Amino acid sequence: MLDTLGNLKRTHYCGALRATDAEQDVILTGWVHRRRDLGQLIFIDLRDRAGIAQIVFNKEQHAEAHAKAEELRAEFVVAVEGRVVRRQKANPEIASGEVEVIATRLHVLNTAKTPPFQVEDEVTASEETRLRYRYLDLRRPRPHRNIELRHKIFFEIRKTLDELGFFEIETPMLTRSTPEGARDYLVPSRVHHGQFYALPQSPQIFKQILMIAGMDRYFQIVKCFRDEDLRADRQPEFTQLDLEMSFPRQQDIFEVIERVMERACGVIGVAAKGPFRHLDYKEALRRYGSDKPDLRFGMELHNVTPLFEPARATLHFEGNVQAVVAPGAAAWSRKQLDELAEFAKSAGARGVYTVKVTPEGVTSPLEKNLGADALKKMAEAVGAKPGDLIVAAAAKEQIPHSDTSLGVAGQMRLHLGDKLNLIDRGKWEFVWITGFALFEWSETDKRWASAQHPFTGVFEEDLDKLETAPWECRSKGYDLVLNGVELGSGSIRIHRQDVQARIFKALGLSDETARQRFGFFLDALTYGTPPHGGIALGLDRVVTLLAGEKSIREVIAFPKTTTAVDLMAESPSEVDPAQLDELGIQIREKK
Ligand code: AMO
Repeated sequence: MLDTLGNLKRTHYCGALRATDAEQDVILTGWVHRRRDLGQLIFIDLRDRAGIAQIVFNKEQHAEAHAKAEELRAEFVVAVEGRVVRRQKANPEIASGEVEVIATRLHVLNTAKTPPFQVEDEVTASEETRLRYRYLDLRRPRPHRNIELRHKIFFEIRKTLDELGFFEIETPMLTRSTPEGARDYLVPSRVHHGQFYALPQSPQIFKQILMIAGMDRYFQIVKCFRDEDLRADRQPEFTQLDLEMSFPRQQDIFEVIERVMERACGVIGVAAKGPFRHLDYKEALRRYGSDKPDLRFGMELHNVTPLFEPARATLHFEGNVQAVVAPGAAAWSRKQLDELAEFAKSAGARGVYTVKVTPEGVTSPLEKNLGADALKKMAEAVGAKPGDLIVAAAAKEQIPHSDTSLGVAGQMRLHLGDKLNLIDRGKWEFVWITGFALFEWSETDKRWASAQHPFTGVFEEDLDKLETAPWECRSKGYDLVLNGVELGSGSIRIHRQDVQARIFKALGLSDETARQRFGFFLDALTYGTPPHGGIALGLDRVVTLLAGEKSIREVIAFPKTTTAVDLMAESPSEVDPAQLDELGIQIREKK
């Protein structure tokens, strides 16, 4: 027979009990975490949101409660009445470890099946099992901490933006396609057969229209939906802090985000302080081989192509050669060097070359191709010291106007930084990246595509190159990067209708297609659009970094797998034929 909650009112959270609560009568509620039966005494670890409290059932003193405690199993839900006492020997492992509760009465509120895994942080179950039983997985302390942190960060962001005069405004979920570069999730209309809503990839157009509508400062913590290939830092639905301001200078937007990030970091006691440093996109690529450089360590790239030039034919390499200096790695074994070469090749290197710098001199398999003098010169040029290993990688151009060797070396830099423990995990290195090109070449579509999205502003001086030399047009876009992760992206927008129309044309959209897809927006632009700009931060990524997690799935209550499946709700799923019929949809046979 189960007991009822009736009029029982919890007095404390289990995990919140402290020595100062000793000698108080309390009522606790929660889940049976563990039970130890010593015959005369039964110990229960009782768990709730705040943590664990030890409960003691004494057969001699409280026979009825003790008898009921004999029936308890893991994850049963109970309420306990009792008195807090100091423990003879404190348990430093848990926050409430100085005290325990001598139970006078036990109310068993619910039973539980044996869970498929123990509700503990050292969980051995696969991620698949954890996601299938996410409600059990979420009972573990670590997800609890992550979800609480997420709440605190969101709350702090809302407070900060309210103080800065921003309005939180919701925008539609059932809308039209927004061009952020991914596939849309479509929703069929029942009322209008053959017509579809698209779930927003971002609120981009709506937030710009809110500026036209005179809202001046908008923000929203909002779900966005993108059907794209998933990775550890991507989900099909994710959460953005989206914001937009009227009459802003770039600096004004940066300052708002710096305030927001300072306050968000403050939640975990990290003192981030704006202004964050700025790095030009090309310089970031040249020095770090990435448009999202991890600035927690040095190891900058060196272009050693001229030094390799004499051996271009014998080494059979194409494109440029970039080198990094791996401190202390001259002592690496054959096996370690092979693994490094393997990694560089998987990152796209066509040739990988190593040079060991030792107190005795410089040694390398390259000696027969380049000669000893050239190797010495290389060591000097890249500033390698005895004990260091120079690692160089060659890669061929794959996309016009881009140097593939930089990206390859950039990945090698991260790999080596990690292997050699050069990354200071206590550092928080924010950087604004600016100076992007407006367009990038799309190999798949064989045409110029927006590097960010088609509403990104372009430098006025470059307007006359839109039609003649699009690759030279500089964008007014910027990214915010933290510790090598792209947190966010934004721009000063195009606010003139004529310029917007020319951009659509440069992107290969006919007047007709542009009107059909963005007509409402082009019209809105003609009714007095203020200069405006904004940004969106990926909040799942912000929380992941601040929580010290590796995957954004760890900070989302109900994440999807890398194949976009919700294992718990078993979604996506087939639907009732009657529903399809109402929508006027017929499913073709599976290929
Ligand atoms: P962008 O497409 O760069 O810009 O997105 C902004 C930020 O959102 C996060 N993000 C994601 N996070 C998790 N899963 C995903 N699939 C995913 N895709 C993006 C990233 C990224 O930096 N409308 C523009 C912003 C603007 O111009 O104001 C936009 O959406 O952290």
